[in-house]
Amino acid sequence: MKISVVGTGYVGLVSGTCIAETGVNVACVDIDEKKIEKLNNGIIPIYEPGLEDIYKKNVEKGRLEFTTDLGASIKDADAVFIAVGTPPDEDGSADLKYVLGVAREIGKNMDHYLVVVTKSTVPVGTSEKVKQAMLEELEKRGENIPFDVASNPEFLKEGSAVNDFLKPDRIVIGTESKRARKVMKRLYKPFLLNGHPILFMDIISSEMTKYAANSMLATKISFINDIANLCEIVGADVDNVRRGIGSDPRIGNKFIYPGTGYGGSCFPKDVQALIRTADEKNYSLDVLKAVEAVNYRQKEVLFNKLFKRFDGDLKGKKFAMWGLAFKPKTDDMREAPALVIIEKLLEAGASVVAYDPVAMNEAERILGDKISYAKDEYEAIIDADALILVTEWSEFRLPNFRVMEKLLKNKIIFDGRNIYDPEELAELGFEYFAIGRKTK
Ligand code: UDX
Repeated sequence: MKISVVGTGYVGLVSGTCIAETGVNVACVDIDEKKIEKLNNGIIPIYEPGLEDIYKKNVEKGRLEFTTDLGASIKDADAVFIAVGTPPDEDGSADLKYVLGVAREIGKNMDHYLVVVTKSTVPVGTSEKVKQAMLEELEKRGENIPFDVASNPEFLKEGSAVNDFLKPDRIVIGTESKRARKVMKRLYKPFLLNGHPILFMDIISSEMTKYAANSMLATKISFINDIANLCEIVGADVDNVRRGIGSDPRIGNKFIYPGTGYGGSCFPKDVQALIRTADEKNYSLDVLKAVEAVNYRQKEVLFNKLFKRFDGDLKGKKFAMWGLAFKPKTDDMREAPALVIIEKLLEAGASVVAYDPVAMNEAERILGDKISYAKDEYEAIIDADALILVTEWSEFRLPNFRVMEKLLKNKIIFDGRNIYDPEELAELGFEYFAIGRKTK
């Protein structure tokens, strides 16, 4: 089989590379010539564990290629995946200009039956727009070439995207066409050897599934964050409460870890987009509106604790920050809580020295010289008035507290991810602040 994947961002690159791994010939397409040149020279623009190995292997085998020529990439292809970006426009809704631009380009160039698969996360109803855009282009050409559209949302987590793609919990495919179903089933069968299902459904339900999944997950996080804040007020420990509720299988123990709020490229954008879709249909998704509001508030919780601890006097103080990425195993800082905390610290006249195991370049790109960058976690805390832990990288989990107490100016830790043991830190004489926990 042969496919074309348009868009060499995070989703396109992971999908294309993983599909090549099954023996399919994959052409990855992008309009960004520099990016394609890099990819042709062995440079992957994103950090994703495991990706480099299978990228190299499949390029060597001649199954994976990179090009700016969309027209050539769909010659002899069985399917073309649209995996370009859908950035939020000013009002928060997803901007479809890239998705529809690709649809038009396909319509202009195709010469045989194709399944056109939307892989980007797009608002409910987009596949229909893709179809219309293609029909218009074909009509302009006076051609009547058959094609089908399908929606195939991705559920990849950054940091484990390759594994998620190779061993999916489920594959969701929305299409009304039998012919398209056959092509998609063939493509995905090798990934379902673990017995997990391929779920065929109508297009709108498939598009909706992606938003509902991410919204449900975001809801779990905002819920536990809200509960954590109340735990502090009433004197409970959210870590006990989390374990207590998580053992009920209906609730489950995953994704109920309180923290500094969710970030990343998906949850904030998708929650907003679904709220907007509902609003446009005069329906108010009140639960999700609260989820979003709680998340905004949660990103400030750690700063507020710190502000209170220093009686509002942060001028001239220096704070160490461990972790900048929105979560571990990625260098992605989109909507990262660290950015909100840094902004507030700088506003209050404090300075920040940060260390993140992989997001340092990304941080410099975004923040420039607004903050300083340390070469490791211990250098970051030298003479710091307190340590603020924002991302729960595993290397921060068991630091040498004896060394830390010598380096820090004050033995104070603000832990936004509840990774330390309050009792241990109290014994070591640290002042410890966490999220929703009994720390004194
Ligand atoms: C998410 C979805 O998990 C994935 O299925 C979808 O395709 C894209 O969006 P991702 O954004 O990579 O993936 O990150 P994820 O691991 O889900 O974490 C999202 C955010 O929630 C992070 O900021 C994380 O720190 C936070 N989180 C997660 C919590 O605060 N508590 C939890 O218990 C779990």
